[in-house]
Amino acid sequence: MPERLVHYEINAKNSYGKRLKCATSANRCPTFHAPHKVRYVIEFQQVHKTYRVAGREIPALNPTSLTIENGQVFGLIGHSGAGKSTMLRLINRLEEPSGGTIIVDGEDVTAFNASQLRGFRQQVGMIFQHFNLLASKTVADNVALPLTLAGELSRSEIDKRVTELLARVGLSDHAKKYPAQLSGGQKQRVGIARALSTNPKILLCDEATSALDPQTTASVLQLLAEINRELKLTIVLITHEMDVIRRVCDRVAVMDAGQIVEQGPVADVFLHPQHPTTKRFVQEDEQVDEGEQRDDFAHVPGRIVRLTFQGDATYAPLLGTVARETGVDYSILAGRIDRIKDVPYGQLTLALIGGDMEAAFARFKAADVHMEVLR
Ligand SMILES: Nc1ncnc2c1ncn2[C@@H]1O[C@H](COP(=O)(O)OP(=O)(O)O)[C@@H](O)[C@H]1O
Ligand SMILES: [Mg+2]
Repeated sequence: MPERLVHYEINAKNSYGKRLKCATSANRCPTFHAPHKVRYVIEFQQVHKTYRVAGREIPALNPTSLTIENGQVFGLIGHSGAGKSTMLRLINRLEEPSGGTIIVDGEDVTAFNASQLRGFRQQVGMIFQHFNLLASKTVADNVALPLTLAGELSRSEIDKRVTELLARVGLSDHAKKYPAQLSGGQKQRVGIARALSTNPKILLCDEATSALDPQTTASVLQLLAEINRELKLTIVLITHEMDVIRRVCDRVAVMDAGQIVEQGPVADVFLHPQHPTTKRFVQEDEQVDEGEQRDDFAHVPGRIVRLTFQGDATYAPLLGTVARETGVDYSILAGRIDRIKDVPYGQLTLALIGGDMEAAFARFKAADVHMEVLR
């Protein structure tokens, strides 16, 4: 069970200026008078969703509890139909939950009335796979739209804000163009600028890079990472590609058939996947088939191990040292050195032969690496 949001400063206001309520009753809240911060920006408590279409019930999300911390980039990965979009759209109540409680920044959003919901939605930006831009409006007018609709700023204030936003997403020279005159990557940048226009605290991204080529995907992900870092925005990002998760996310939840089957820090989930669905996503990203690889290694003599290095350990000269000290010779069967967000990692599959094998295993275990014995 995830940790529950239980208590926080009763006299504090959240970032939308609303007074926070204590989540436990006053006499049970152990820190009733002590100021401390709300830890989770988004919390699902046993939230579920069933669609009803022409008298038929379509279950989309089983009762799910989840917490997403402030300032994180949180990834949701799963195959088509897993329930990712439903989950995302429940956060800003574009979908109504069938049951459960959704708390965002200390407020129960499931209890909001229509006018509270309008105010709340300004704090949650959203971007989409197919950009959802208005073809008849210029880039600048598309970005200005949420501000124009909110009706709180003057024309000149809106213009100033749009200029800033277009500069942030690298589209200053394209303000007067129409969406049809832009590339896919540029369209998504307009979508991002529009989503940021109301200064949201949360950005929801539904397959935001799925319609883009790999190079454009990389540049859009880089922009999202910058926004997360500089604006301290919490980002919830849906994708069906592990590569997207690996590049920008801090944590990931893997969804399958309406439930979360695995979640954790990206490095843990990516390097040591447990659930079969997660393993498939990781293998797709690495473009290896474990079954095929086992067949390939069948004729290789000796023991076979997989070593995973992370952070500084990635660059330590461990293999040579262990080989010299223990007399165990090695050959590299497969390997990959890459990054998870900003942390380098390496994963090597080795055949080990001769020497003092037990001593070599002990040395690997004692070093800052993770060892799996495959054979
Ligand atoms: N508006 C809807 N009406 C009826 N069924 C829906 C609706 N939206 C999604 N579903 C169904 O709910 C399930 C989860 O869908 P969705 O959340 O869109 O998954 P994903 O985003 O992972 O592809 C699927 O079976 C889908 O067909
Ligand atoms: Mg979807």
